[in-house]
Amino acid sequence: MSDTFKDRIAAYTERVDQGLDAALPLSSTSPKRLHEAMRYAVFNGGKRVRPLLVYAAGECLDVNAELLDGPAIAIELIHAFSLVHDDLPAMDDDDLRRGKPTVHIKYDEATAILAADALQPLAFSVLVALQGVPDRAKNRLVALIAEACGSTGMTGGQSIDLAAEGRSLSATELERMYSLKTGALIHAAVISACLLRDDLADSDVAAIDAFGREIGVAFQIKDDILDVEGETHVIGKLAGADQRLGKATYPALFGIDASRQRCDELSSSALHHLDNFGDSAAPLEWLARFIVERGQ
Ligand code: IPE
Ligand code: IPE
Ligand code: MG
Ligand code: MG
Ligand code: MG
Repeated sequence: MSDTFKDRIAAYTERVDQGLDAALPLSSTSPKRLHEAMRYAVFNGGKRVRPLLVYAAGECLDVNAELLDGPAIAIELIHAFSLVHDDLPAMDDDDLRRGKPTVHIKYDEATAILAADALQPLAFSVLVALQGVPDRAKNRLVALIAEACGSTGMTGGQSIDLAAEGRSLSATELERMYSLKTGALIHAAVISACLLRDDLADSDVAAIDAFGREIGVAFQIKDDILDVEGETHVIGKLAGADQRLGKATYPALFGIDASRQRCDELSSSALHHLDNFGDSAAPLEWLARFIVERGQ
């Protein structure tokens, strides 16, 4: 393989965007304002890191991209729904995302709530409608993504995040919150390809699993560092928003140097789990580095 994963990102992004476009009702479908808002939430920019992790893990484990479109699309829909709710006045009260007005600013609060409400079940419809994926694998994907999204996954983490505002958490408590609010969906993205193969060694599944867990926590620490160090026009979100809300974050509780150090430690450890996969792990390695080195 002479090209690098970076050269395939545009094609994978196009692939998932086409899938998202096909899954979402047209803006002209009634109720138009709701469908417009759902499309805005999904197509207002976004790095598509979770779908890219799905396809990169597929390259690592030799699973065809056609089989992975379902989890890639479903996880991005759940991610989009989580961001719409995260930005609401009742949560982080943010006006800007991806350099554009957040959904409740562009539309209104009720429409934002409903658009997110509708994005969530759409993700599961995409999974159950998958063609060419054995029922057993489909069921496992539905269970994986439902758990990652629910009260013991992303939603639970968001609840802990809100309750922790203005409070001090231990590093263990903080990383548990990160592993739920952000790590759960990232882990689900990384592990999806494993569910499409029945013949993997337990040690390979455990390695991919550990990679997914560690890189998910690193992702949120990097997000927090960018909130402190990034500029609004680059990160596309209002810089310094976490401090304004008294969010319990790694930089707020332990300082920026310790945050950088922990982020690097987690990414090195995550990369180490890929040692036995050889060259086929290059796409996951590329994404792991991107996650901790990115500027937005
Ligand atoms: C932002 O995620 C929310 C967090 C979990 C930290 P991303 O940084 O992946 O957001 P987009 O999709 O690229 O805008
Ligand atoms: C969000 O964490 C995690 C989600 C589950 C959406 P943040 O609140 O830090 O994400 P941003 O900074 O608003 O994107
Ligand atoms: Mg938040
Ligand atoms: Mg937020
Ligand atoms: Mg943030």
